Amino acid sequence: MQTIKTLIKQVKQYKKVTLITPIFTALEVLMEITIPFIMAQIIDKGIQSGDMGQVLFYGALMILAAFLSLTFGFLAGKFAASASTGFAANVRDAIFANVQTFSFSNIDKFSTAGLVTRMTTDITNVQMAFQMCLRIVVRAPLMMICSIVMCVIISPSLSMIFVVAMIFLAIALTIILTSATKIFNAVFEKYDDLNESVQENVSAIRVVKAYVREKYETSKFHQASGNIYKMFVKAEKILAFNNPVMMLAVYGSMLSLSWLGAKHIVIGNLTTGELTSMFSYVMSILMSLMMVSMIFVMMSMSVASMRRIAEVINEKPDIHSPDDPVMEVKDGQIDFDHVDFAYKHGSGELVLKDIDLHIKSGETIGIIGGTGSGKSSLVNLISRLYDVDSGCVKVGGVDVRDYDMELLRNEVAVVLQKNVLFSGTILDNLRWGKEDASLEECQKACEAAGASEFIAKFPDGYNTWIEQGGTNVSGGQKQRLCIARALLKHPKILILDDSTSAVDTATDARIRKALKEYIPGTTKIIIAQRVNSVMEADRIIVLDEGKVVGFDKHDNLLKTNAIYAEIYEAQTSGGGDFDEGGED
Ligand SMILES: Nc1ncnc2c1ncn2[C@@H]1O[C@H](COP(=O)(O)OP(=O)(O)O)[C@@H](O)[C@H]1O
Ligand SMILES: [Mg+2]
Repeated sequence: MQTIKTLIKQVKQYKKVTLITPIFTALEVLMEITIPFIMAQIIDKGIQSGDMGQVLFYGALMILAAFLSLTFGFLAGKFAASASTGFAANVRDAIFANVQTFSFSNIDKFSTAGLVTRMTTDITNVQMAFQMCLRIVVRAPLMMICSIVMCVIISPSLSMIFVVAMIFLAIALTIILTSATKIFNAVFEKYDDLNESVQENVSAIRVVKAYVREKYETSKFHQASGNIYKMFVKAEKILAFNNPVMMLAVYGSMLSLSWLGAKHIVIGNLTTGELTSMFSYVMSILMSLMMVSMIFVMMSMSVASMRRIAEVINEKPDIHSPDDPVMEVKDGQIDFDHVDFAYKHGSGELVLKDIDLHIKSGETIGIIGGTGSGKSSLVNLISRLYDVDSGCVKVGGVDVRDYDMELLRNEVAVVLQKNVLFSGTILDNLRWGKEDASLEECQKACEAAGASEFIAKFPDGYNTWIEQGGTNVSGGQKQRLCIARALLKHPKILILDDSTSAVDTATDARIRKALKEYIPGTTKIIIAQRVNSVMEADRIIVLDEGKVVGFDKHDNLLKTNAIYAEIYEAQTSGGGDFDEGGED
């Protein structure tokens, strides 16, 4: 119910057309209903008494009714189409707008594949159901009621035939539909799997190829789509019973109607014209019943889609700016006061435990630790990509939760570990950091980030087109562009999360030196796998399983910290850095 409410809200400016559609449908039905009635008049008053004038009069009336019914039907169809496409557009906008407000933890809840499916397949399903409903929800019941009323008026006793036929049809359809719906629901769950496998394999097609997994993935996909095929066939087989059941009901009624009707005519209870019109009404009644049953199928098929869409629209961003935000970041001082953090709040699975760190403004801090030790999690708290579970994180002496979020994220620039470039030129991408940056500014930032040399080698220089996801530049080039993009913000705090991992050691060292000159007053936090990258830092944080196990200068850590000494030892002995000279 909540689901439907959420979706109905999205009808918005299409309310008018949505409401007009049923009105025109109703008019269409009324016209259709009168046609058999006029037919009866032609037969009884015109043909039987041989009155040509009556035949022409009622004939003209019938053509008018047919024409009106056609016109109303056309208008209803047109309005239904524009209402449903408009509705779908609104739903799409609503999802997109809401996804933009999501925090990182909101995004963690939905997979990218899931979000894309919701914005495409699911919306199409709902749009189709909406359009069908607009037309049929009014049409079928109205048609049925009007036809029944007409029949009862003509002959109450003959109408009993329909009652029997309808009960039979209702029971048979219910059995058929419930069993088919069960299968359809299962199919849609399988669809999700299929979509996910498409998303994953197509977007990671390079990896699939690199590992020569094409055959395996293809056969996996073939199996998944084969499963869906089988289930669909099974469902359709059951639905195929619809027709014979329907035919049985229709022809059964016709036969009994002819037999009983003939008797009535002989007695004089019924005219020939009336009997003819009853034949039309019996068809209408049973057809409407059929349509009602189709609505149920459509609805049950789209309920899952509706729920999935409503889920995204109703998701509330769990991180937002406070009502009265602080609008200035004083300096780049960072304090962690006894911070605990878990990705699922309150789950107790702490990723960071009792972090208590105090970093002075302008310091350069290195962070080192094994994968999964919580390095990325730690720095993501500084720009408030996630909120802490307990304790607090302060920037410039103020709790990050008290800042305006946009301001905070402009002053705390993060080059994420999983960074991306967007489709557009290099300049477009750089200007994500600062919208109105001049070419000189961009060049300076690229200089500092070690990106200017390779950009100069591109024929189009700064206007080189970057493909979606940055697939046409190497990993190291991408990293350097991402650093330049962050530098353009001239932030008070710069965080590099493993941002030079694909850059060779010499370039890495050059970038670090350039950063010192480019943004001297900025607090720099450098996460790295290589001790080389952090050993010149003012202080180094050693993380292990979500705890700070060391925080000191390189020389002191070597003497006092076993874990640090071990990492250093492993990386310097045995011929030095393994990726030396890995320029790309
Ligand atoms: N988005 C996430 N949702 C849930 N758990 C996560 C998420 N990101 C990381 N984790 C978990 O948190 C722990 C620390 O991860 P992370 O901070 O990325 O480590 P590091 O950067 O040191 O490799 C890991 O156990 C990881 O599985
Ligand atoms: Mg990480």
